Amino acid sequence: MPVNLNGRSLLTLKDYTPREIQYLLQLSFDLKAKKRMGIPGDLLKGRNIALLFDKPSTRTRCAFEVACYDEGGCATFLSNSQMGKKESLEDTARVLGRYYDGIQYRGFSQKTAEDLAAYAGVPVWNGLTDSYHPTQALADIMTLMENTKKPLSECKLVFVGDARNNVAHSLMIISAKLGMAFTAVSPANLKPDRALTHQMTALARDTGARLEATSDLSAVSGADAVYTDVWFSMGEEEKAEERIHLLSPYRVTQDVIASTGNPHAIFLHCLPSFHDMNTQIGMDIYEKHGIKEMEVEDRVFRAPYSKVFDQAENRLHTIKAIMVATIGRQ
Ligand code: CP
Ligand code: NVA
Repeated sequence: MPVNLNGRSLLTLKDYTPREIQYLLQLSFDLKAKKRMGIPGDLLKGRNIALLFDKPSTRTRCAFEVACYDEGGCATFLSNSQMGKKESLEDTARVLGRYYDGIQYRGFSQKTAEDLAAYAGVPVWNGLTDSYHPTQALADIMTLMENTKKPLSECKLVFVGDARNNVAHSLMIISAKLGMAFTAVSPANLKPDRALTHQMTALARDTGARLEATSDLSAVSGADAVYTDVWFSMGEEEKAEERIHLLSPYRVTQDVIASTGNPHAIFLHCLPSFHDMNTQIGMDIYEKHGIKEMEVEDRVFRAPYSKVFDQAENRLHTIKAIMVATIGRQ
């Protein structure tokens, strides 16, 4: 049976089969090659999308817009809608569903994304909530595939840092789906959500995935990719001090990369990253806490084995694949 994702939302990836995820990845590679060859696209011609943002973004917003335009569609960016203030979520979703073929939502609560999908009548794509970042996870796996000759089922991905955040959760889900080894390395009180871990561990029994959560950094041994993310996510700024205290031993250093024991190991980060002091927040943290780098050393971030900008580019190709698969001209 061919894969048909027409009309589907993408909220967590939990409801996508391994085959559907593999299909999205293959489509991403095809669309990347097509763009590299300069072939103009029309797979989203006549399609309009709304980009609803309750949190800031660079990559996600730009990737959705460029992906849409590349394939002949039109995008509307909305960051100050009436939703939740003067108009209920339900009414807003019903209105947007009359204008648009698909809606991207980035915000705080996962329930908002789920409710939008329930009422809009068109696919809703989760562009990041407090709980999940599924479009990111697809780009991350695409980047890993570009950098390994091994099948994914033989690859080990290690996330180091705040392992209860959206990015870590989505990496655990996609790893479980694709039969990979996924290790979350974090302080005990920043482990992945317990219920999600149970759910993914049960799934892993079917897919052959190996999931692990530990506080021991030596678990990076054998990693094909070491991944980290910011120590406090958007909306958690008041937790900065506590997280710096908890996570400083978990900074991804050259020693951490070396202790993978894998000369081909790559470094991944969803970005934005605090790897130097060239940001307002990085500067504030330095003045308050005397730390020049947070989750990753600048020299790791800039090393040849760091694939963070390939990862950022792959947001474009994977997001395009999601839109083409769910609302594109078939
Ligand atoms: N990685 C990511 O989602 O980046 P933005 O916050 O810039 O969209
Ligand atoms: N965990 C980060 C990811 C940013 C892309 C955040 O939510 O801020």
